[in-house]
Amino acid sequence: MARQLQLTLLFDILEAPEELTEQEQVMLVNAQKAADQAYAPYSGFLVGSAILLDDHTIHTGNNQENAAYPSGLCAERTALFGLSALHPTKKIQAMAVTARRINETSFIGATPCGACRQVMAEYENRQNSPIRVLIQVGPSTFYRCQSVQDLLPLQFSRESLKPIL
Ligand code: THU
Repeated sequence: MARQLQLTLLFDILEAPEELTEQEQVMLVNAQKAADQAYAPYSGFLVGSAILLDDHTIHTGNNQENAAYPSGLCAERTALFGLSALHPTKKIQAMAVTARRINETSFIGATPCGACRQVMAEYENRQNSPIRVLIQVGPSTFYRCQSVQDLLPLQFSRESLKPIL
């Protein structure tokens, strides 16, 4: 039988907003406010992301859609690219993601797509310190992990390009 690689991914499951730390609650509210301002006329799915920096400031992003569908961008990448463009050296402590449908008020949440996980991994590796991730997965349910590694194991990264660069 082939040898096997077993991976352990660790997530806290929080079952009420009160179970989040105060800082996480602030991040969550900021992510929800960002979702409210998303431009998502085609999917009607409003996603918001909030990034907590080392200096305790918060930077947000939301999904931006386009009539030419692939030209749009997810909330997580809008937030990260915007932050990196404005403040390339600021360190990220944590990131929160939430979502709701355009015609509903309650946040149902969503987990980051694969492309966003790849981008999140890039910035975690760039700053060489873990980014905690808080994901709303239901109206009052949240997953929390301590690193993007838990969302994207077996990463393709700068390391993979080393023999070339
Ligand atoms: N979306 C995000 O903003 N983040 C994700 O991680 C998943 C999907 C957006 C993209 C599109 O505007 C809408 O949600 C429906 O896919």
